[in-house]
Amino acid sequence: MSAPAEPTLPAPYRIVGRRQDSADVFTWTVEPLGEPALTFLPGQFNMLYAYGIGEVPVSISSAAAGEPLLHTIRAVGSVTRPMAALPVGTVIGRRGPYGSAWPLAEAEGGDLLIVAGGLGLAPLRPAILGALARRAQFGRLCLLYGTRGPADVLFADQLAAWRARGDLELRVTVDRATPDWTGEVGVVTRLIARADVDPARTTALVCGPEIMMRFAGEALLRRGVPATAIHLSLERNMKCAVGYCGHCQLGPHFICRDGPVLAWPRLAGLLDVAEL
Ligand SMILES: Cc1cc2nc3c(=O)[nH]c(=O)nc-3n(C[C@H](O)[C@H](O)[C@H](O)COP(=O)(O)OP(=O)(O)OC[C@H]3O[C@@H](n4cnc5c(N)ncnc54)[C@H](O)[C@@H]3O)c2cc1C
Ligand code: FES
Repeated sequence: MSAPAEPTLPAPYRIVGRRQDSADVFTWTVEPLGEPALTFLPGQFNMLYAYGIGEVPVSISSAAAGEPLLHTIRAVGSVTRPMAALPVGTVIGRRGPYGSAWPLAEAEGGDLLIVAGGLGLAPLRPAILGALARRAQFGRLCLLYGTRGPADVLFADQLAAWRARGDLELRVTVDRATPDWTGEVGVVTRLIARADVDPARTTALVCGPEIMMRFAGEALLRRGVPATAIHLSLERNMKCAVGYCGHCQLGPHFICRDGPVLAWPRLAGLLDVAEL
């Protein structure tokens, strides 16, 4: 793991690629100017700093090995909207990686059930690629992905390639279909009951809007997945990202330090707590 000498000092990175994934989501490819390639664990995030604009936490959406560094970003507010307008070639700041990782090693030997909602597919992508790279170490592998509508489905080419492999059960559903949509319709959590996994030996990785993760956790428990094997990735407003400022506190946890990936028992009663 890269450990910066000064954990809150951004290193310069250049945006070398930009892909528009949906109306308000884009993916940057970034390269370091001077520092070695970043090592990180699936599920971790970086703080990305647009000089003169501001800094935000963004998950790493690239594979832990074999890909350039990717960040998939939704333009929602005062930092991410101006970020969406930055041209390729712009130099930004990056610090990290921070936070906990998806427990892929612990999941080996059992089934892996991944539940993604909307942009939640981005932080899960490194975990999916990691599991596929070590496919023989897992039993059944199932990805359930839900978005608001067909136009919001991210990484369509990637999804098609995963489906074509034949060793990953992939179900994509939309809340509201358009006439040309031939896939499933309904919230993603409804697919959990039908996922082809053995609940008792399943590890579940869940990322999406918080309400979706709460319903997903409850559906997984009803399916018989052990609470300790259900892992969610949480978001909270962040400033320091290194456990100093308390901005990201959720109950007894600092999400930047203890999360963002946390097991279900550590979140009991906390998922209804609003952002500060
Ligand atoms: C650990 C972690 C990982 C994250 N990974 C990603 C990622 O991979 N990609 C990504 O795009 N974002 C990610 N986020 C969320 C991202 O940090 C926020 O969207 C960003 O900080 C918003 O900053 P802003 O200044 O542009 O918006 P603000 O000006 O702070 O917010 C503007 C409006 O957008 C709303 N808003 C803020 N955050 C979100 C959100 N996440 N979703 C919907 N509405 C929001 C606010 O409520 C407000 O109404 C992550 C957050 C955390 C904590
Ligand atoms: S963002 Fe400062 S403690 Fe987490």
